[in-house]
Amino acid sequence: MANFQALPGFREFYPEDYAERRHIFQIWRQVGRRFGFQEFDGPVLESLELFKAKSGDEIESQLFCFEDKGGREVSLRPEYTPTLARMVAAKASSLKRPMKWFCMGDNFRYERMQRGRLRCFSQFNADILGEEGAGADIEAISLLIQILLTFGLTDEDFYIRLSDRDLWILYLEAQGFDFEASSKILSVVDKWDKATEEKVRSMLSEVVDDRVDDLWHSITSFLQVNSVDRILAAFSSLSLSHDAKARLDSRLAAWSQLIDGLGAMGFGEFTRVDLGIVRGLAYYTGFVFEAFDKKQEFRAIAGGGRYDTLIEKMGGPGMPAVGFGMGDVVLSELLKARGCMPRFFDTVDVYLVIGGSSERQAALKDAGSLRQAGYSVDYPFKDQGFGKQFKSASNAGARLALIYGSQELEKGVVTVRDMSDRSEEEIARGSLIEFLGQKLNA
Ligand code: HAM
Repeated sequence: MANFQALPGFREFYPEDYAERRHIFQIWRQVGRRFGFQEFDGPVLESLELFKAKSGDEIESQLFCFEDKGGREVSLRPEYTPTLARMVAAKASSLKRPMKWFCMGDNFRYERMQRGRLRCFSQFNADILGEEGAGADIEAISLLIQILLTFGLTDEDFYIRLSDRDLWILYLEAQGFDFEASSKILSVVDKWDKATEEKVRSMLSEVVDDRVDDLWHSITSFLQVNSVDRILAAFSSLSLSHDAKARLDSRLAAWSQLIDGLGAMGFGEFTRVDLGIVRGLAYYTGFVFEAFDKKQEFRAIAGGGRYDTLIEKMGGPGMPAVGFGMGDVVLSELLKARGCMPRFFDTVDVYLVIGGSSERQAALKDAGSLRQAGYSVDYPFKDQGFGKQFKSASNAGARLALIYGSQELEKGVVTVRDMSDRSEEEIARGSLIEFLGQKLNA
């Protein structure tokens, strides 16, 4: 027998599962709109080239790529950001800045199977393009926090780790590592928590020939930084060039603005300075951040940061950008674990209880006009006893049952049963729409 199971890492959504997914999408969209973001979308299949250089080594190794029938090298999208950057680059001169855009859809990554990571997952992305100041970072991080709050999570459930790749580069350059070496060192920092000290040292030794010990100590001490004041202290023992000093001052000013702005939004208690976050993707530049559950049971809920050079690399003008992505997998596990996922039940407004084949024509006619008027209506396809039909009405969650018996039709009425208290009244068929308007909207 052939194996017709879904592929590993691909989910099937039965109606109750789909209702949860719809809930997640609804809140993503609702809060995105509340923050003044506009929705966009891009293609699910792209040229392989788009992701190869732009997403970074880790994602490149996870691409679902193949050659299409026209001989093109293509890939399902593993993330939205390169597509967004290309779309913005193509129309940059006609777009009003700053742009605040969001999107939601499926992404594909051939990941090693583990909890919270699938091969097809939905992701919400929100990005602000064309604004270089920390105001945009404050807005993006506030949106991330507000979304999680709107799902019913609290400051007891999650927090945001804030970090800064520019600061890291500055710190490493002050110790004599050029930009390329610093970027490689940051790839090791990205794995710091997940690997043993021995493994970390061996990864560092692949980047720097000697000085592994010094570098290990210096990174370990930088990772202790947990406040803006301590950032300054961490640099105090390093001798900085005039230019590096100016860059540090500018980063410190941005940090103060970020912390003050998030505080003013009322989100201070949700954030922590934590330089352990450097982000694995290749395009990040300044502030980077990730959201985690406080009990540390799950992987990252969301992640993002600045990517000020990507639009230009896509052939557009220089355009700063910041944003984040939030997947639905960890999020829905967390919502369930914290009792924040409602139970859903798809219901109908009205169920038609049909006496027999002589009454069916009239019932179908009314089903048509009630649906046309916007009500959800269901009825049995075959003639059945009344008891069975009332049971179906109740299973469908109908608020009203409309009874089409021979006596009713002779009089030109239907009997309307309120399913909550079983009370009944006769209503002329010609006034049904008006009646439902009053009854269901009351
Ligand atoms: P990312 O950190 O790769 O960033 O993904 C963001 C979020 O997507 C993760 O925190 C997680 O919730 C979810 N996610 C990622 N991979 C998987 C997976 N295999 N299974 C389930 N969920 C997953 C990005 O994708 C960036 N493009 C985000 C961004 C937007 N940065 C700026 N703008």
